[in-house]
Amino acid sequence: MSNNGATAIAIDGPAAAGKTVVGTRLAKKIGYRFLDTGMMYRAATVAALDANADFDDVEQLAKAVENIDIEARSGAEGDTLIFINGVDITPRLRSHDVDSRVSVVSAIPRVREIMVDAQRKLASGGGIVMVGRDIGTVVLTNAEYKIYLTATLETRAERRFIEMKDRPGQPPLEDVLAVMRRRDDIDSSREASPLRPADDAIILETDDLTVEQVVCRLTDIAKGVTS
Ligand code: CDP
Repeated sequence: MSNNGATAIAIDGPAAAGKTVVGTRLAKKIGYRFLDTGMMYRAATVAALDANADFDDVEQLAKAVENIDIEARSGAEGDTLIFINGVDITPRLRSHDVDSRVSVVSAIPRVREIMVDAQRKLASGGGIVMVGRDIGTVVLTNAEYKIYLTATLETRAERRFIEMKDRPGQPPLEDVLAVMRRRDDIDSSREASPLRPADDAIILETDDLTVEQVVCRLTDIAKGVTS
């Protein structure tokens, strides 16, 4: 069974706060594995899209997710790859379509139950950096360190826009910001495991910090260095 995070670092926070880039680098530095749980909820959304589920129908959405096998594996760079029924669907996970629907799917308690169970199993070997929305509050409540990364909505939307701007069909900055605001609202106000810092989380505002500065700060925290 799970150790509930005894040797894990939990990183939570709103969309595009830098959790994935920072978490991957931190994990590499301290020799931990890395899991981006957001990719699992995105995969659940891909499954619902592929099943032509009605996004207003909770039962249909839950069934679409129950009917598939979602597996998270580590890529060559320590990144998270997602397989649905054995097929790598990672390139589909960051589409605008998934972005605009994922919060509806991830608010469903049955979907969360399936994902949290899989995440705890993955953490049971210890030595893992896990990023998401509810890692410190629900998934790994005994994590060694809980970090809450955040930045203003404007900073985060701009970061995501720059990250995606060369993709075909990339929407303008205003649309990226609007989808992100809606996603943050749903994620923070949902009844099942809403986004919020754990009571014992270290909160890091990253508006004026580079990725490298955040990684250094978190590496110090993970090594028990106090500043
Ligand atoms: O990369 P970004 O921060 O934009 O989002 P993500 O981490 O890939 O998460 C996508 C969505 O999955 C979030 O907006 C949440 O709705 C959901 N999610 C969640 O509910 N719980 C998690 N532990 C991780 C993600």
